[in-house]
Amino acid sequence: MTIIVTGGAGFIGSNFIFHMLKKYPDYRIVCLDSLTYAGNLSTLKGVMENKNFRFVKDDICNREGVFALFEEERPDAVVNFAAESHVDRSIEEPQIFLQTNILGTATLMDACREYKVGRYHQVSTDEVYGDLPLDRPDLFFTETTPLHTSSPYSSSKASADLLVLAYHRTYGLPVTISRCSNNYGPYHFPEKLIPLMIANALNDKSLPVYGKGENVRDWLYVEDHCKAIDLILHKGRVGEVYNVGGHNEMKNIDIVKLICKELGKPESLITYVVDRKGHDLRYAIDPTKIHNELGWLPETKFADGIKKTIKWYLENREWWQEIISGEYKNYYERMYKNR
Ligand code: NAD
Ligand code: DAU
Repeated sequence: MTIIVTGGAGFIGSNFIFHMLKKYPDYRIVCLDSLTYAGNLSTLKGVMENKNFRFVKDDICNREGVFALFEEERPDAVVNFAAESHVDRSIEEPQIFLQTNILGTATLMDACREYKVGRYHQVSTDEVYGDLPLDRPDLFFTETTPLHTSSPYSSSKASADLLVLAYHRTYGLPVTISRCSNNYGPYHFPEKLIPLMIANALNDKSLPVYGKGENVRDWLYVEDHCKAIDLILHKGRVGEVYNVGGHNEMKNIDIVKLICKELGKPESLITYVVDRKGHDLRYAIDPTKIHNELGWLPETKFADGIKKTIKWYLENREWWQEIISGEYKNYYERMYKNR
């Protein structure tokens, strides 16, 4: 079995590649990634020498390059992680999100049609459902919750989802979609909440909490997400959407306080900054379908996962320090100075 994994030099894609190479030693994994600011070849150094792994630097929007790769590799399946993934950047500059997240998805699916690929899996997000109110803890996103997006990022992901389902109905492309909640774990790019707070706290820098820190996210350890995708790829029903989430809702402020506690840093580092525009209040996934149909359940409890994650950032300082000392500095200035 040959699987093309796009966006595999990013956070979740790389963790998925590690999971697959370990679990299926006879599978060939081809990573296609254009190495944007969020892609990092050093993340993949542990698998570069693996004879079942190949890295190809290219853009999923480059039709010629994508078709040439499919011609060469004749993949059995494609798992698409490649995306612009950060909400704040999408608010600053939406265009690239439309380009990669929508047109890139279409290009990959066109190649899948041409080369009769057995499965196209789209890695989507719970953000396509919009948000839930803070005072209705009884409400959850199910697969039939209407799409109702808030940011250019989530709109681009929802557009891609609609396109994936349209390719299934119109062309009979064998697709599946997973919509997961917030992931955390190793190799998470430091622009995102958890790694940003860990890195800042370790550098005794202020911890910028948007608004009052009351917004709720539903956190899942990245390995559990990878296992869910693996299951959907092998056992999921074609044409179906599967929500992935572990019933682990937490307020942002509680996460930041927990990180301070774990690192022995004072809460006085916390600063409340101007809120994100259109900030989604609460995400909460109902994972009943994937549990009932495929037997998936999250294995890592948040209390353990956050400890493992913090330990990883402590033991892999060079990975994130290299990132935050480069172009990231300009991003940080733009985003947080005078906020
Ligand atoms: P990430 O930003 O860490 O990684 C994205 C990767 O895609 C990078 O390696 C980047 O170089 C690559 N890429 C970007 N544009 C590309 C292009 N045009 N061509 C080829 N490669 C390109 O993202 P992530 O957090 O790992 O998210 C992966 C996927 O999972 C995304 O589709 C995202 O929407 C989805 N998702 C993320 C989360 C989360 O909590 N991080 C939760 C649910 C779903
Ligand atoms: O729900 C899945 C989504 O989770 C994915 O689709 C996205 O790709 C991923 O980036 C993530 O989106 P969020 O916007 O929820 O993640 P982020 O880490 O950017 O922010 C988490 C929460 O923390 C959010 O409420 C905003 C807040 N926040 C974030 C940052 C970076 C802060 O308060 N301060 C910060 O500096």
